[in-house]
Amino acid sequence: MLRISLEGVGKTYPGNERPSVDGVDLEVQPGEFLCLLGPSGCGKSTTLRMIAGLEHPDTGRITLGERVVDDVAAGTRLDAERRGLGLVFQNYALWPHLTVRENVEFGPAVQKLPRAERRDRAHEALATLAISELAERYPSALSGGQQQRVAIARTLAARPQIMLLDEPLSNLDARLRLEMRAEFQRLHRQTGNTMVFVTHDQFEAMTLATRIVVMDQGRIQQVGTPLEIYNRPANRFVAQFMGNPPINILERGEPGAAAQRIESWFEARGLDVASAGIRPEDLRLQPQLAGPDALDLQLEVSALLPTGGSWIIELGDGTRRFFATSQQRPEVTCGQRITAWAASQHIHLFDRAGMRHQPLEVAA
Ligand SMILES: Nc1ncnc2c1ncn2[C@@H]1O[C@H](COP(=O)(O)OP(=O)(O)O)[C@@H](O)[C@H]1O
Ligand SMILES: [Mg+2]
Repeated sequence: MLRISLEGVGKTYPGNERPSVDGVDLEVQPGEFLCLLGPSGCGKSTTLRMIAGLEHPDTGRITLGERVVDDVAAGTRLDAERRGLGLVFQNYALWPHLTVRENVEFGPAVQKLPRAERRDRAHEALATLAISELAERYPSALSGGQQQRVAIARTLAARPQIMLLDEPLSNLDARLRLEMRAEFQRLHRQTGNTMVFVTHDQFEAMTLATRIVVMDQGRIQQVGTPLEIYNRPANRFVAQFMGNPPINILERGEPGAAAQRIESWFEARGLDVASAGIRPEDLRLQPQLAGPDALDLQLEVSALLPTGGSWIIELGDGTRRFFATSQQRPEVTCGQRITAWAASQHIHLFDRAGMRHQPLEVAA
């Protein structure tokens, strides 16, 4: 198990004006399952590829364990092959003319070992991924999920101390993705490896990570446990990126009855903030669930959307839309005028720069 440390790491690709990764400081603890999460193009893959040594930074320093593998100022630059990392990418290329066992035995990093050792390691890796019975099959006779397991087994056979995974599940269908997520969690428990897992899927990151790093435009927006990130977003970007349906954001000075109501709520509390966010599950239709200091909004129900097991309620104030969610069938009908409530501790406040107004306490 190794620690990974990034200090001031930046990268601008030749011909680009903006850096793809911009001054990233990050410590990955030994044995951690860290997810890099953010929208497409935010710099996740570039960050991962720099840890792997497939790209090199043009500012900063990267350390794996005790070893400095990149240091721009000192001119240190260690190649990918000499870093001893395991890599799994979205497009897993298996050799079609080799069986599953041969694919795992002849993985690039296993190849140079003696024959018996190769066989032992392949055997063990296949057992870990629960695909021993597929050993003599060819890749063409495997499902997508099975092929991805083989690719992971091939990486595992090299016994890397750190596994780097770049959207390894995005080519799989929804059910397989769920299965493979559970598989990754088990693999992490079993090997104790440090894992860095790139995904643009917030649900994937929430379910897998010990900590999530949210990125946007090459910069880290927040690092925290899944619940810290969800419950105490550091800024508006993180608040809006996490959650589905998305958080309801009310801007100060925005037109409409709801904005006027929140303005007076801010004033009554002497709050100097620019916007407020309320998650759909925190917008309640029953006042008894909201507490004494709650914000009340007069809204009209415009749609009821059952999702199977829960409901999304679309509400409006004549100017803009809000979403609420409920685990129970809501006792309201379309067109009905209702009061929606949000407890004050569930109202996220942001300043003019979009930063969280409350101190960032650790979530309970
Ligand atoms: N080889 C490259 N050459 C030039 N620009 C690149 C290259 N790879 C990535 N980029 C740019 O860098 C930014 C970050 O890309 P990437 O790290 O792949 O993001 P992500 O994995 O989060 O989608 C994007 O704007 C992308 O277009
Ligand atoms: Mg990517």
